[in-house]
Amino acid sequence: MMDKLAITGGNRLSGSVRMSGGKNAALPILCASLLTADTLHLTNLPRLNDISTTLTLLGHVGVRISLDEQDSVSLSAACLDRLEAPYDLVKTMRASILVLGPLLARAGEARVSLPGGCAIGSRPVDLHIKGLQAMGAEITIEHGYILARATRLQGARIFMDTVTVTGTENLMMAAALADGTTILENAAREPEIVDLAECLIAMGADIQGHGSDTIIIRGREKLHGAEYRIMPDRIESGTYLVAAAMTGGDITLTDARPDTLDAVIEKLREAGAKISCTSDSISLSMTRRPASVNLRTAPYPAFPTDMQAQFMALNSIALGVGKVTETIFENRFMHVQELQRLGARIEIDGNMAIVYGQESLQAATVMATDLRASASLVLAGLVADGETVIDRIYHLDRGYERLEEKFNQLGAKVRRIR
Ligand code: EPZ
Repeated sequence: MMDKLAITGGNRLSGSVRMSGGKNAALPILCASLLTADTLHLTNLPRLNDISTTLTLLGHVGVRISLDEQDSVSLSAACLDRLEAPYDLVKTMRASILVLGPLLARAGEARVSLPGGCAIGSRPVDLHIKGLQAMGAEITIEHGYILARATRLQGARIFMDTVTVTGTENLMMAAALADGTTILENAAREPEIVDLAECLIAMGADIQGHGSDTIIIRGREKLHGAEYRIMPDRIESGTYLVAAAMTGGDITLTDARPDTLDAVIEKLREAGAKISCTSDSISLSMTRRPASVNLRTAPYPAFPTDMQAQFMALNSIALGVGKVTETIFENRFMHVQELQRLGARIEIDGNMAIVYGQESLQAATVMATDLRASASLVLAGLVADGETVIDRIYHLDRGYERLEEKFNQLGAKVRRIR
């Protein structure tokens, strides 16, 4: 399955493209199906490898799943056979940790493989574990597995000393069935947290404050089934906007959520893009070479770390010098040496990369290392002179639905080499 992508640079992007459902919204919402014996019906589900991995994991646990041929799925966790997330599934997708909270809350026990680190960092889950222990769970780590037990989780006041997206999601799902009230302090504020909370509320959960740094969850005895539509993918949206800004294009994203991309839109305007929005669309036009921008990643609503690599590509061909500071993950500059192979001039100084904008980049063969790094290589390939070939694009397939189809629809020249 070692597909490659071949991209011929030089085309301006134009036209409109519809955004898919959000990967990082869908993953926790799929796991929320474990919280009820009723059926959860989801629509706008993106067709991505991480989604099918999660469905495989939930199927392993005992959830009955029926996918229709479009973008919807029904999940029924009436009876759970195996309260576990085995290593061979977790190793391909760290977000499998998101079954821990729901299994513990619904069934009183869970055996989840410790997710290994990944290319961008060690990715500990200590705050997930600490929060569940605060709710009364007994947790030990044995042979690489998290073993957790709780007759019934108790509501608790939990302060998370680092803002963690999946940590907040795991604890919010666990608290939804706990006995009493849970207060999550220093909670993550990402739009995907809000989407999960809205889905849980549709299932009968009592949640307030989602989207702020303090979330209050009053536990219920049971949750019931619901219908829920996954929010659009904001990082996919940001990626296409950067592509248009880099190629001097003029595009419109439909089924998008501009209200979830303020920091990214602000930076693109700073780079010289003209952006106009409606409630569910974003239009960007760029008539000149982008200006370099400085950015510093931080938890939402600040600039998202998942857009850092894409802006590194933009700065590589921008006018000026751009300073890119990564504060979330300790090793999220894997794309730098690949961009340098394409002629980018970048110096790394600790967690800051200084990018000296070049007139142009030269096509080369490069290698994808992680999901967003590979997106930055696609963006660089769109402007590089010649044909850029990107290896190991299974990383891309984890997070971008029908990538080459969407880019070609906008006038790019991208082909998949099987
Ligand atoms: C989520 O990862 C996203 N994944 C990531 O997107 C995203 O980059 C990240 O949030 C930050 O926005 C999903 O939602 C599935 P964190 P997550 O816990 O939850 C430290 C992509 O490209 N930390 O918010 O794993 C951690 O080391 C992916 O789609 C602890 O120390 O990230 C990091 O430095 C990549 N202990 C910081 O917090 C913990 O228990 C933020 O991590 C948990 C996290």
